Amino acid sequence: MTMTSDKDRVVIFDTTLRDGEQSPGATMTHNEKLEIAGLLDDMGVDIIEAGFPIASEGDFNAVSEIAKNATNSRICGLARAKTGDIDRCWEAIRHAEKNRIHTFIGTSPLHRAIPNLTMDEMADVIHKSVTHARNLCDNVQWSPMDATRTEWDYLCRVIEIAIKAGASTINIPDTVGYTAPVESAELIKRLIETVPGADEVIFATHCHNDLGMATANSLAAVAGGARQIECTINGLGERAGNTALEEVVMALKVRNDIMPWSTGIDTRKIMHISRRVAAVSGFAVQFNKAIVGKNAFAHESGIHQDGMLKNAETFEIMRPSDVGLSGTSLPLGKHSGRAALRDKLQQFGFEVGDNQLRDVFVRFKELADRKKEVFDDDIIALMRSGEDAE
Ligand code: KIV
Ligand code: ZN
Repeated sequence: MTMTSDKDRVVIFDTTLRDGEQSPGATMTHNEKLEIAGLLDDMGVDIIEAGFPIASEGDFNAVSEIAKNATNSRICGLARAKTGDIDRCWEAIRHAEKNRIHTFIGTSPLHRAIPNLTMDEMADVIHKSVTHARNLCDNVQWSPMDATRTEWDYLCRVIEIAIKAGASTINIPDTVGYTAPVESAELIKRLIETVPGADEVIFATHCHNDLGMATANSLAAVAGGARQIECTINGLGERAGNTALEEVVMALKVRNDIMPWSTGIDTRKIMHISRRVAAVSGFAVQFNKAIVGKNAFAHESGIHQDGMLKNAETFEIMRPSDVGLSGTSLPLGKHSGRAALRDKLQQFGFEVGDNQLRDVFVRFKELADRKKEVFDDDIIALMRSGEDAE
């Protein structure tokens, strides 16, 4: 067994039920939210952001209920930098054994313009809101929304204020998926080196996938010193989504040689929760999605299937069982070869000699040219029609 110290451990903060649910059309019912929270808790997620309690009566009730039922995870609620939001959030999460208030405000020039606050006025709002949250809850996370487009000096200044006011986690959101991996690593590293008190808090990374870089940016941030990744199941989230939990967790597991940080996630629970989130959110997972897509462990071409039948490591870098799948799938199609066909026939109890295999293979290829995918029933029918012809 390898021992890991705290500095090697990455906290997994799941926001499927908050940022994920903010995806247009992904609204979940009360019971669905409870079910997903139970699965997240069970798979070892450290912190569940259960919702935005001020947003609606329904969200408040769901967060309260999740807080009452959590057994392992810390339960977090989101609040704007407003006393009313923070009080409502605390009201919902206070039932949890371990809880957290996450409060935020947009700090970039574009976001400061919305409430029309000067830099000084916003700094004051940050001081007051974090102080208020800290008076209610001993675990406070603060986020400068749109951090990656906030002026460097101002970002350092407001982070210092939040730390002094009692925040123990500073989250750096890449709200619009604008950053790139080198920049993401460098930003966290420089913040930790520069901001007074930074060594006493945990830095978190919260990435969106607008340019398809959320996973890479999150892992780069960890290389830069972040020790909390904010993510969602299946990468569910606004616009192009958030960092996908399954991707960062499996990347850290599979490439631990170059990314020596661990998580507390039981990866064998990934596939089940992925399917449940897809079902309750109504957001189907794309076939070629990393880790959880239908084709992530499927091989159709003859060369790949032959390799897989001889040694699974030829074309797979993870074991299907590591993510909760019973095995690899070798779907038959026009690119498949004899080895996979013979293997499939054997699974149905058909032992064929070389001559018979040659004959079935010709008929199989004719069929595969006509159909996108050849199903198990098609193979059985092929064998039956061959037997009838004899
Ligand atoms: O993307 C974002 O900036 C957020 C904040 C509320 C943390 O989701
Ligand atoms: Zn977000």
